[in-house]
Amino acid sequence: MISRETIDRVFETARVEEVIGEFVQLKKSGSNYKGLSPFSEERTPSFMVSPVKQIWKDFSTGKGGNAVSFLMEQEHYTYPEAIRYLAKKYNIEIEETEQTDEQKQHADERESMFLVSEFARDYFHKNLFEDEQGKAIGLSYFKERGYTEETIKKFQLGYSLNEWEAFTSEALNKGYNLKYLESTGLSIVKQDVLAEGGFKKFDRFKGRVMFPIHSMSGRVLGFGGRILITDKKAAKYLNSPDSDIYHKSNVLYGIHYAKQTIAREDNCYLVEGYTDVISLYQSGIQNVVASSGTALTENQIRLINRLTKNITILFDGDAAGIRASIRGIDLILEQGMNVRVLMFPDGDDPDSYSKKVTNEELKDYLENNSQDFINFKVSLLMEEAQNDPVKKAGLIRDIVISISKIPDRIQREVYIQECSRIMDISESVLFNELAQIDNKSKREASKNAKNIRSYQNKNSSDPNEPPIEALYPEMMQLQKTSQVEKVNELKKYEREIIKILLLYGNKEVDFVDYIEEGEVQGNEFKKLKKEQFQNVVSKEIYLNLQEDEIEFTDETFKQIYYDVINQLNQEENISVDILVNSSNTNISNMVTNILMEDEIHVLSDWGRKDIEVKSKESDLSKMVLDAIYNLRRILIQEKINSLLTDISEENSRDHVLESIVNYTALRQRLFERLNRVL
Ligand code: CTP
Ligand code: MN
Repeated sequence: MISRETIDRVFETARVEEVIGEFVQLKKSGSNYKGLSPFSEERTPSFMVSPVKQIWKDFSTGKGGNAVSFLMEQEHYTYPEAIRYLAKKYNIEIEETEQTDEQKQHADERESMFLVSEFARDYFHKNLFEDEQGKAIGLSYFKERGYTEETIKKFQLGYSLNEWEAFTSEALNKGYNLKYLESTGLSIVKQDVLAEGGFKKFDRFKGRVMFPIHSMSGRVLGFGGRILITDKKAAKYLNSPDSDIYHKSNVLYGIHYAKQTIAREDNCYLVEGYTDVISLYQSGIQNVVASSGTALTENQIRLINRLTKNITILFDGDAAGIRASIRGIDLILEQGMNVRVLMFPDGDDPDSYSKKVTNEELKDYLENNSQDFINFKVSLLMEEAQNDPVKKAGLIRDIVISISKIPDRIQREVYIQECSRIMDISESVLFNELAQIDNKSKREASKNAKNIRSYQNKNSSDPNEPPIEALYPEMMQLQKTSQVEKVNELKKYEREIIKILLLYGNKEVDFVDYIEEGEVQGNEFKKLKKEQFQNVVSKEIYLNLQEDEIEFTDETFKQIYYDVINQLNQEENISVDILVNSSNTNISNMVTNILMEDEIHVLSDWGRKDIEVKSKESDLSKMVLDAIYNLRRILIQEKINSLLTDISEENSRDHVLESIVNYTALRQRLFERLNRVL
């Protein structure tokens, strides 16, 4: 793990405008910089960088954060990858925290495997251009397939000489350990009593052209090697075996080169093989990855899901292959992704098709010939089931199973309607089928729920008693606000409080409040006495919330609030930087969003900002108390609501009723105070 000190130094040193400046053309605009969003295709700049606050905000996509989160968005780095990138850029030495010997050894071993793999990549690549055999066989093979030198270099393609241990000897000569040559699968080591040292070693990829397989961030995980002669007995492709650094099922070929375009175009093309990826890329389609001949796994889908919700599967025209892959597609639907499919004309795959047409034609073809997956599946199966009612019944179930995997309810309904039209079956039949499938899959999960329900039934109130609504109609009116509105209203004020803490938390303010005086007499309100005092905004908020034992319901707000309070306790001061730079992206995102909220006016209208902020500050006392009282008001309302629900279930009605009366009175008094304050 990277040490805390290193991370802090990186944050102290890195300038967000410098980091972003390498990817986006920034123009000075007042105290900020403006530029075109790298995350959308826009013509007028809505991307802002604040050198003062050291944060950025993209108003076109709503994204925002600090230098690290920019790199995570732009380059799709993980957090440690982004820190390492910045450390390199600013020449900061990376200190690792203490690891156990075992952890250290494991990390060292993985690192050694990466180093061996990267050496192999360079070695195979060099063969293509510097070795006679490599040039005559490897390079000419790639050229024959139509790859330009630029493409060959981009994908770091290579050639493994047709000799038993050319690579292995070279690597050993260069000081690489045989252990890692073996664990990466680059060399094969076999016992042999006749050989020197009791074993012999040879190159796994002897005589093959090499395709390095990269991680999302561009490290070499393994290789695919294609045979050049036609040999019925030998596999066309040989791949690195699974290892500590290479897990076939977690990797997509090409993702490192495709990630930015996938995010920008908001779509990912999925093809079968190495050559399909490279050919499409060379033809100008860069958002393409390959599953390497196997069915897509959940982890591979998750990789794509980090970049886009949309996936287009490119099939070559072979019907048997299509039918085989269709099952796996339900997995993609399950992750809430939108799936389209596209077929190439007879006998063509993406590789061959891209060579037959111009780049423009290819682009048009891809754009105009994809079909929604469910529709595609329906038509494909319908063709098969024509005039066969039994088959047709089976296919309906099959389709509805696919639809049932889609998490979004609205989308599901749309599909049901559409399928009903295409298959000429009534919607209600399809909805019934869907409900059955849903029930079946939920049956397991609902066992617990059932137990709870049976418990509740046993404890339900006496059916002879009149319903609570009849007894207290005016109270039920309190329950007017819907659940959703309540949640939104609560979040709104929670956010408001966080915003005040972040923007004005350290400010000292003259508060004017109204304090209750005297005894409460039933429903009668106490007298309100005007009181003036000074306090720091954050402390006033803290005191108030603590007094009422108020907890934030929103997880992110809760965490931000705890962080702020922690800082207050330790430093007597809130440092927004610490929150902006939090490794918890929920926190840093939310905080930058709030901090940059006012900047949106800057994009269109420079003058407004100052006016707004000034008027806000003069009303700080009101703003703080308003937010606190409103939050309290909603929480009290919630309490009342939950009591009203209790009352229908509990035996001790009187007791609950008394609470309701008390809370209602409290709520009323709060309104009163709130009105005074405003
Ligand atoms: N594949 C493999 N092992 C094989 C055959 C195929 O791992 N013996 C994987 C490779 O990742 C390959 C993909 O499946 O890229 C698709 O196979 P195929 O269509 O046969 O290969 P292409 O990539 O089309 O290669 P080429 O154009 O050179 O035939
Ligand atoms: Mn192929």
